[in-house]
Amino acid sequence: LLSKTIEIMGEKYPTDNITNITPSIISKVPLRLHARPNHPLSTLRSLIESTYPDFAHLSSLSPIVTPFKNFDELSFPADHPGRAVTDSYYINKDLMLRTHTSTHEVDTFRDGKTKWLLTADVYRRDEIDASHYPVFHQVEGAKIFDANADGLKEVEEDNARLEALLAKENIVIEDVPNVSDTNPVQEGHDPKFSGAVARNLKLSLNTMLLKIFGQATRGIVDNKVGKEEPLRVRWIESYFPFTSPSFEVEVFYQGEWLEILGCGVVKRATLDTAGVQGKIGWAFGLGLERIAMVLYSIPDIRLFWSMDERFLSQFEQGRITTFKPYSKYPSCFKDVSFWLPQYASLHDNDFCDVVRDIAGDLVEDVKKIDQFVHPKTNRTSNCFRINYRSMDRSLSNEEVNDIQDQVVLRLKDQFQVEVR
Ligand code: PHE
Repeated sequence: LLSKTIEIMGEKYPTDNITNITPSIISKVPLRLHARPNHPLSTLRSLIESTYPDFAHLSSLSPIVTPFKNFDELSFPADHPGRAVTDSYYINKDLMLRTHTSTHEVDTFRDGKTKWLLTADVYRRDEIDASHYPVFHQVEGAKIFDANADGLKEVEEDNARLEALLAKENIVIEDVPNVSDTNPVQEGHDPKFSGAVARNLKLSLNTMLLKIFGQATRGIVDNKVGKEEPLRVRWIESYFPFTSPSFEVEVFYQGEWLEILGCGVVKRATLDTAGVQGKIGWAFGLGLERIAMVLYSIPDIRLFWSMDERFLSQFEQGRITTFKPYSKYPSCFKDVSFWLPQYASLHDNDFCDVVRDIAGDLVEDVKKIDQFVHPKTNRTSNCFRINYRSMDRSLSNEEVNDIQDQVVLRLKDQFQVEVR
């Protein structure tokens, strides 16, 4: 079924037995939503960049990278689940689509940059629903200091400055220690310096969050964060292979804690690999879509990819406004039940990519509604329920049946399933 080469952005690549990138995914690579003027993702990116005016702002790196760059260079262990073909998109065994913007940390540090932001599209195989899409956008940020007395003084002065600024703001912060037994200082790092860097990271990100969720949203009628209500930020211990100590941040927004980003003190191995000596610093990575969804009240992640004027014309660069839904067209549910071949497997993400590839953005969500093993034959039966719905128009029954037939056909061809 697979052709021997695939073409991405005008380049041909050989395929092999682990190739799992689909035409629907390939078609997203050139779109670069974060660089489209007026697009909500572009405004959010600019807002973040404006918090870091003296940083380098990068945004045009190719998403095609080696698994080595995406994982090994960042100290991911050989058996990390993110490497699985069920979780990531592979062009072939030597090339993949980046799963996060951290992929470019080593190259950016090697380039000599000491403070930088990098925005890009990232790719992960996942379930299908209103808040998951296999392509999304991240902003990575990093800052490194000289690991000597002058460097420490610089960090401490910056911390004092940021603390004074934040003290005047309406923000309530739940903090965690800068270091703990379960979130240790790296070997070879001065605990005092590492603590000051972690503090700098937190202060810097609290300032950014205030800009995004505080100021930027003032004036929106239904916004709960404003002049009277404080912005609530919660810090949590975390783990990443390429930072230690590591943290996550959540923001309380419209009645819920929203996961915003991961971050930490950059592993020495990352800087060593980049050929950077005598430095210590922090890095963070944040996803744009989920933040934009709450800030703009965008109810479905597919809308970011809409070419419909009723969507696009609502937004203006630099302004965060509430999205006005133009309609909700009817849903059409279709079930498919099948037996898996005895000695083969079909991951839920394989099923979702088949549906996504055929139906494109006409699929709203996919749920596995039943699974059982036949006691006598030992075969596994799956039943999935697909919800088809367009965001732009009503779908005809014929059209949906036709899509569903193609899905069934592809399942039989590609995975040898027996439809019940
Ligand atoms: N790359 C991480 C992710 O995608 C986020 C991260 C970036 C964490 C930088 C630490 C430092 O989840």
